Amino acid sequence: MDTPSKTALIVHAHPEPGAFATAQMRAAAEELRRSGHVVEVVDLYADGWSPVLDRHEFEPVRGPFKPQAEQMRAVREGTLTGDVRTHLDSVLAADLLVLSFPLWWFSMPAILKGWIDRTFVMGALFGGDFGLFDRAALRGRRAMVLVTTGGSAESFTPGGAFGAMDDFLVHIHRGMLEFVGYEVLPPVVTYGPAHMTDAERRSALETVRESFTAIGKGLVGGPVLA
Ligand SMILES: Cc1cc2nc3c(=O)[nH]c(=O)nc-3n(C[C@H](O)[C@H](O)[C@H](O)COP(=O)(O)O)c2cc1C
Repeated sequence: MDTPSKTALIVHAHPEPGAFATAQMRAAAEELRRSGHVVEVVDLYADGWSPVLDRHEFEPVRGPFKPQAEQMRAVREGTLTGDVRTHLDSVLAADLLVLSFPLWWFSMPAILKGWIDRTFVMGALFGGDFGLFDRAALRGRRAMVLVTTGGSAESFTPGGAFGAMDDFLVHIHRGMLEFVGYEVLPPVVTYGPAHMTDAERRSALETVRESFTAIGKGLVGGPVLA
């Protein structure tokens, strides 16, 4: 009998369809599909995703608005809004989550941070019936970031102008992805595509493809838990 396909969810945050970041996201999706994954791409800008977590999505709110308490209540009562429920179901269905974005202020664009704020729901992924980290809901799944930068590779080394890339990514790796249970795969980063020649950009896209071929074949990270 055939092994069931793995599922990958790519959440992409770039406002320009012609950007290098968008091209590398498409290349990643193609390579994952080639390796047998069912791939869902969520393009936050194209979809007009609303990134602001506020009280309106939980109305009626009784008493002071406590966002995580309201998330827990919405999970319990089945009243999460349609957009959050849909994205949460995509997260729960995916064996691999890829967050694809340009580095903005040494972090992710606000629209993607707001996707985390609203979709990483307390009570559904952690807290409530779940714990944190290796007791959270996404234990056994993998997640990673796919990034472009303005700065060069040298500037993101420990003695470089900015410092080590891993230091900038720790709030995403530890504070968001591991927090809800994921095993975090090494980041795939293209440094300074805007400063490359066309030939260099083509070669950089090939490097991204090679990374995702290896990821798609399960050659990166530890064994996946049942
Ligand atoms: C609001 C904003 C903040 C940025 N912050 C950073 C930064 O902190 N570090 C960096 O290396 N580049 C930064 N950049 C540059 C982008 O990372 C860079 O233009 C992008 O990754 C290049 O890929 P693209 O051509 O696909 O957009 C920033 C760009 C914008 C618009």
